[in-house]
Amino acid sequence: RILILDYGSQYTQLIARRVREAGVYCEILPWDVDPAMISNFNARGVILSGGPESVTASNAPTLPQAVLAADVPVLGICYGMQLLAQSLGGTVEGGHTQEFGYAEIRARGHTALLRDIEDRVNDEGHGLLDVWMSHGDRVTALPDGFKLMASTADVPIAGMADAERNIYGVQFHPEVTHTAQGQRILGRFLHDICGCGSAWTPGNIIHDATARVREQVGQDKVLLALSGGVDSSVVAALLHKAIGDQLVCVFVDNGLLRLNEGDQVMKTFADHLGVNVIRVNAQERFMAALAGESDPEAKRKIIGRLFIEVFDEEAAKLSDVKWLAQGTIYPDVIESAGASTGKAHVIKSHHNVGGLPEQMKLKLVEPLRELFKDEVRRLGLELGLPRESVFRHPFPGPGLAVRMLGEVDPQAADTLRVADDIFISELRAAGLYDQVSQAFAVWLPVKSVGVTGDGRRYAPVIALRAVETIDFMTARWAHLPYEFLDKVSRRIVNEIEGVSRVVYDVSGKPPATIEWE
Ligand code: XMP
Repeated sequence: RILILDYGSQYTQLIARRVREAGVYCEILPWDVDPAMISNFNARGVILSGGPESVTASNAPTLPQAVLAADVPVLGICYGMQLLAQSLGGTVEGGHTQEFGYAEIRARGHTALLRDIEDRVNDEGHGLLDVWMSHGDRVTALPDGFKLMASTADVPIAGMADAERNIYGVQFHPEVTHTAQGQRILGRFLHDICGCGSAWTPGNIIHDATARVREQVGQDKVLLALSGGVDSSVVAALLHKAIGDQLVCVFVDNGLLRLNEGDQVMKTFADHLGVNVIRVNAQERFMAALAGESDPEAKRKIIGRLFIEVFDEEAAKLSDVKWLAQGTIYPDVIESAGASTGKAHVIKSHHNVGGLPEQMKLKLVEPLRELFKDEVRRLGLELGLPRESVFRHPFPGPGLAVRMLGEVDPQAADTLRVADDIFISELRAAGLYDQVSQAFAVWLPVKSVGVTGDGRRYAPVIALRAVETIDFMTARWAHLPYEFLDKVSRRIVNEIEGVSRVVYDVSGKPPATIEWE
């Protein structure tokens, strides 16, 4: 396994994903973690990430002794390379103009890292690579024992190597896809230089995870709040494979789900996979609790609280449950741990079961804790979950309650469900579903006038929202084809009596959020 030391680059998680794609297990630790954790990690190799700081600054993040003491191959990327250069006796200078974007480097094939890796060859027979650069500082003198490995017209030292000690540095970012040969370069480091195999595959991950869960829980029963979302679905399938009927899932239908969603979840898990699922039909309880409330945050709180109540009641009916399973994934763990605070144990708040484990004296099982979302999806497919549920858009815990502006109304919910279903099924039919990151309909409590064949209609408005985003922190509205929007709009107004018109949301995030509430 490989250790990635994080110096704060926006690309650190990407490095980890690329390493995993190469079939090698890795973990990210903050650079200032307790050095004992670095030594005890027993890495086959260490990657130092990039970072926003300058190594020339007085309080800049440093290279822990434990890294070189481990005597395994090291690859420094960007800040990581500068740090290696400075720590080993080279020099780094700041104050150069920021270089950002594509660069063409001349690769020196004398080192194991770049040998025979090139995009093309120039007239003099030198290998050239298109790479992605993003840096201000640069290495101006190599440390003793290092050879020049790559250079660009502007950056004379864009890569360095000490083949003897297996220490490498690259100023460019092999982890981003703009660096065409990036995955090959990382693969070279992982497989040839560090000697790692490619055993990190969905089949092996499932094999190891099921063995671990069996050992962890023994004959005990495990409870899971199944929402139908990707993470909890994969946990359900994985635990079912590991412990069969010892897994009990509780699926709460709060009346705020999408069209036929409850039946779909039961079909997939209970009928198709044979998972033990208890369906709780709590629609009326949720509607009653939400009656008269129009504030978005208050609605969220009511739903969260009631969910715990309902889930708790179901759990109390079951005897000898000792564990609670959760779909926590690796980005949740990294993000909540943050740099330098170590690994905090997180409970995913939107699972709405925070507080439950302590209250019910349950121990946690989190079989996806080490996995990235794309790995979770691959596992889901391998475990036999349908493609639609594995690649489905995210759906908020409070469900349609935050897509019906103002007071929640059961009739409006029915209207919204049908409109949403028309939009989503048309997206699927047009092959557009996978091209947008999230899409849904919103019910607006505003009446507008319309004309239909036989008269006047005075009814609410449906807004359509579709966004493209990587991280859901920023998003651009999806530029869906006019003909497509036209078709969806016609269908909604024609097929649903309670809708007078359809509008399309053309706001980005920021300033607008993805949801309307
Ligand atoms: P916003 O609206 O904040 O949404 O731009 C970003 C992402 O978060 C989802 N979202 C929620 N998910 N509980 C959830 O589980 C919530 O209360 C909630 N609010 C927003 C939203 O669907 C989008 O994917």
